[in-house]
Amino acid sequence: MKTKHVTHKPLLPGKAMMAAAAAFTVFFGSAGNSWAQKFEGLADTPPMGWNSWNKFACDIDERLIRETADAMVKTGLKDAGYQYVNIDDCWHGQRDANGNIHPDPKRFPSGIKALADYVHGKGLKLGIYSDAGDTTCGGRPGSRGYEYQDARTYASWGIDYVKYDWCNTPLLNAEAAYTTMRDAIAKAGRPMVFSICEWGMSKPWEWAGKVGHLWRTTPDIYNCFDCQFSPGLSTGLGVLRILDKHADANLRKFAGPGRWNDMDMLEVGNGMSEDQDRAHMSIWAMMASPLILGNDLRTMSESTRRILTNPGVIAVNQDKLGVQALRVLADGPLEVYAKPLDGGQWALMFLNRSNQPADIHHDWKKQVLIDDLNQRSVDFKENVYQWSDLWSKKTGDTSRKLEAKLAPHSVLMLRLTGPAKP
Ligand code: GLA
Repeated sequence: MKTKHVTHKPLLPGKAMMAAAAAFTVFFGSAGNSWAQKFEGLADTPPMGWNSWNKFACDIDERLIRETADAMVKTGLKDAGYQYVNIDDCWHGQRDANGNIHPDPKRFPSGIKALADYVHGKGLKLGIYSDAGDTTCGGRPGSRGYEYQDARTYASWGIDYVKYDWCNTPLLNAEAAYTTMRDAIAKAGRPMVFSICEWGMSKPWEWAGKVGHLWRTTPDIYNCFDCQFSPGLSTGLGVLRILDKHADANLRKFAGPGRWNDMDMLEVGNGMSEDQDRAHMSIWAMMASPLILGNDLRTMSESTRRILTNPGVIAVNQDKLGVQALRVLADGPLEVYAKPLDGGQWALMFLNRSNQPADIHHDWKKQVLIDDLNQRSVDFKENVYQWSDLWSKKTGDTSRKLEAKLAPHSVLMLRLTGPAKP
């Protein structure tokens, strides 16, 4: 068969052509470049780090980022496993005549490369933020039409993590747009964690495993335990509302090493009570969500620091099986979540959703613990497990009923090891 070569001039010049190409993807989608893949091995356990947005919004500069890196080391967060220092929206200045993006010269006068060198010098990694649309949510230049150029720029700066937002993307197809950025990162050649942030709108869990390492599943977190905030068109969800989206929607089968349901950045240390903060941290750990902190690390209290660095709770989150917990019991305001862990162990979380105290009288022998998805089960009539309370450090075993009082909005989080024969 003969192929006919037709040469023709582009009908649209430069950017207009790209905009048309981007619009095309609306109708035809995109399989991306067949050679391109996301970088594997970057997020075999949920990423841990910090992000500027929850506490500082657009009020950021290079000093904050440097001091946050310093604090991450000094407070023991780095030793506890946190490694990414992520700059969110509003770091941008303008694009130059060649389309290259530059940071805001007033807030980041030394440039992002110098900041990356500083952060790397502390043994940490630097993350940055962009948006699939023409502008970011904060109205700064987005990456639409500049994906390959921006990814190249980030790589040249030494960026390790890219969060990619979804504001101002009318008519764009999310899978296609995020695949374009994945391909751009692959082409830039520097391993960068790719964090998809389109708030669960196009069910990213169904397609994003091949595209990124984590994907937001819900609207933005709002700094409260059990509330919802809906100004205008946007919505912010409190801790329990985000949990419910995960526990109910059965998203857990999509999560695993290298691909995580992202429940959003943490609000621990931003004003909830200590019990609520402990519960928030425990829930994120149980659900194998990325642990990206959202408080001011430079001024946090000792109690916040202890919550964020609890080694037992972090170990549950970072367990190498990478299984997201399932809700195994809902008894009024009292719920129980179970997370199978490596080596036949389990984590169990009793959650008191209510603002009243609740009593736990848990007879282990009355309930077989089953996770069908992972083909794991325990019958406590036949096996005795030791438990240790990851917050209070108390220990016990499953041969006796578990009796405890839970304060309002608090959790009891246990690691179960065993089994021994009764
Ligand atoms: C969106 C994201 C947030 C944050 C802001 C920045 O709302 O979901 O996490 O990045 O944009 O403008």
